[in-house]
Amino acid sequence: MHDYSADTYGERIADIYDSWYAAYDERCIDVLAELAHGGPALELGIGTGRIALPLRQRGVSVHGVDASPAMVAKLRPKPGGAEIPVTMATFSDFAIDGRFALAFVAFNTFFATLTQDEQVRCMENVARHLAPGGRFVIEAFVPDLTRFVSSQTLRVTGVETGAVRIDASQLDLAQQRVTSQHIVLTEHGVRLYPVTLRYVWPSEMDLMARIAGLRLEHRWADWARAPFGAESTKHISVYQREG
Ligand SMILES: C[S@@+](CC[C@H](N)C(=O)[O-])C[C@H]1O[C@@H](n2cnc3c(N)ncnc32)[C@H](O)[C@@H]1O
Repeated sequence: MHDYSADTYGERIADIYDSWYAAYDERCIDVLAELAHGGPALELGIGTGRIALPLRQRGVSVHGVDASPAMVAKLRPKPGGAEIPVTMATFSDFAIDGRFALAFVAFNTFFATLTQDEQVRCMENVARHLAPGGRFVIEAFVPDLTRFVSSQTLRVTGVETGAVRIDASQLDLAQQRVTSQHIVLTEHGVRLYPVTLRYVWPSEMDLMARIAGLRLEHRWADWARAPFGAESTKHISVYQREG
């Protein structure tokens, strides 16, 4: 997809995002509130506020970064949504006055930066915005290339009386990139919701963090802090700013 940029995902999906992804794990909010230690938090990819709003309700002051005006427009009318400052920028180039006790990026959104260089610059940028000892939390899937046959997948993700949802994906092994469409077929027509990700294994993520002066403190398999291991399909990685 040559016309895909940092705001494409959000601009295309904003109208239906909350109906697909309203649920969140309450333990995610517990962990983030604890790691913020009462200090301000920065969310990369705040979107419609699925995580930021309940975190704010716990008394944590949240600042968001996002590239998509349509996603942030969905945040604003929600209770507390108008009070959250949001910087409209990409993860590798945002600049905010002030230092944060906690930065986080949930729901695989770190992978929405599409080159290794951008991902390293994102880590470096986050590190610049952390107070000494501040933490960066990343929630991401562990890549599973067995899902792909001949570098592609087609999966039915929903069947309703009036609609079928299908995910079509292509894998670029050299770039570590998965280019997908969420396709919704209805009697009235077809809707396409594109999403492109550059996946990294936890080991590459740790190297990127080290380049940025961040050290791995914890890696959990879920928000309940279960131990991470060979069977884990996702990870919650907590990096701490050195010095
Ligand atoms: C999957 S949504 C997650 C929203 C919210 N954090 C949640 O958990 O529901 C990803 C968000 O990140 C934003 N985003 C994706 N890539 C971005 C980038 N490179 N720079 C800034 N924002 C980006 C999108 O616009 C979208 O709002």
